[in-house]
Amino acid sequence: MPRFDGREWNEIRKISIELDIVPNAAGSAIFKFGETWALAIVDGPKPGKMSAGFEEGLLRVRYDMLPFSVPERKKPGQGRREIELSEIIQRALKPAIFLDELHGSIIDVYVQILNADAGTRTAGINAASLALALAGIPMKDLVIAVAVGKVGERIVIDLNKEEEDYDSEKLKNDPEKSKFIEYYGEGKATDIPVAILPSERKFTIIQLDGEIERENLKKALNLALEKSIEIREIMKKAILNKYESLKLPRI
Ligand code: CDP
Repeated sequence: MPRFDGREWNEIRKISIELDIVPNAAGSAIFKFGETWALAIVDGPKPGKMSAGFEEGLLRVRYDMLPFSVPERKKPGQGRREIELSEIIQRALKPAIFLDELHGSIIDVYVQILNADAGTRTAGINAASLALALAGIPMKDLVIAVAVGKVGERIVIDLNKEEEDYDSEKLKNDPEKSKFIEYYGEGKATDIPVAILPSERKFTIIQLDGEIERENLKKALNLALEKSIEIREIMKKAILNKYESLKLPRI
């Protein structure tokens, strides 16, 4: 018996991509992992008043969720969580960008979550990666993000909200869902969102919420590496369909 939504342990939710949807922006993209939808918009590079004369360009990220994107309406505007996630996404993307070629310029990346079912930071990073490429920002490679983790005793990829909230003790009293304990096993969930530069097999961020054994962590991270190449192919194809001549490093 497979996962709550019918997927296998190593299966990513359906990916959908839309490119260049905002005419006035340098680059824009929507990236969807199933019901998790992220829109990213890139403004820049533009001359920075504060950073003129600086060697490096400046990458700024603003992440937010629309109030209706979650079941329990979110208060409009950034709170602590959104400010922290903006910082995480910035750190995930920065190693890919040749900021030293962007003397004193500013790149603003706006990430808006349109619909959320867990994994908004990973969908947001992928959307931002696509929007940066479309804006012509010099990059080593696309940054690819995905969550891996342990639900009960099982290693899985791209957790949805139901999996992130997994608790076998609570499910025992649920006549419809208790059968899933057979698949996942006992325990709660550990979510590990990561971002990867596939061409260098490098992680730009690894986050971990929960507990996991060393061996399982290795297995989960290897799964993320392997799948990042698959996700990159899908993203690359989407870009190439738009710009036949765009060159990305071979991996
Ligand atoms: O979205 P991501 O997994 O990157 O970050 P999180 O802070 O671990 O949030 C997990 C999920 O909780 C989100 O994707 C939403 O589905 C949900 N959430 C929510 O329902 N209401 C909020 N105010 C924040 C998050």
